[in-house]
Amino acid sequence: MRKVIIAGNWKMYKTQAEALDFLRGFLDHLNETPDDREIVICAPFTALGTLSKNLHGSRVRVGAQNVHWEDAGAFTGEISAPMLVELGVRYVVVGHSERRQYFGDTDVTVNLRLRAAQTHGLIPILCVGETKQQRDANETEAVIIGQLDKDLRGVDQERLVIAYEPIWAIGTGDTCESEEANRIIGLIRSKLNYPDVPIQYGGSVKPGNIDEIMAQPEIDGALVGGASLIPNDFARIVNYKT
Ligand code: G3P
Repeated sequence: MRKVIIAGNWKMYKTQAEALDFLRGFLDHLNETPDDREIVICAPFTALGTLSKNLHGSRVRVGAQNVHWEDAGAFTGEISAPMLVELGVRYVVVGHSERRQYFGDTDVTVNLRLRAAQTHGLIPILCVGETKQQRDANETEAVIIGQLDKDLRGVDQERLVIAYEPIWAIGTGDTCESEEANRIIGLIRSKLNYPDVPIQYGGSVKPGNIDEIMAQPEIDGALVGGASLIPNDFARIVNYKT
């Protein structure tokens, strides 16, 4: 039985005060949330401790957005898995396209980060996806298979989440057709050793399209950017209807 995971990726948004404001508007909506789904908020490092404290005893898990592969050392600006664990973090996004595009993450460093996260009991959410140019050149499948092949070396697939995020659909309002997302996610699943890895779709997920996305048989959840910043919108996404 595959787990359904709806995760918000707040990116570089929300101070601690704003994170608390969000919770005030969001948590009440969870009374009606079916038990079949895990809810995660991946917040900036500075909000993680506050979120963990205020979500203690709730069904919402806390996630980070990056992790370094060493436990400690001279790595200015980085954060390690033991530091995240100490803050009550359970999930961590690894290899988001924004990290790959702007901060030099490669399949090699993504692989190191995944393994370090798992060593310390964190569940990584590995992001894969193609650019518009790659899609137009019919390279989507090859790009995704290449990323999986390199990123997952030595990774325990039983403690992993994958997010398929076509880069052209991120923050553009241009959602990938749900059947097409389903097809690519099916392809990803066919390349795994462990078929029950939860595989999410990410890219312009909104209250208006979540029901259709979640109706697809291969899609096990969503990684939500912009819409996860708004309590009512994220609540509607988490409470998607089957
Ligand atoms: O990680 C989530 C993300 O990249 C998608 O962002 O704003 O298109 O939902 P957005």
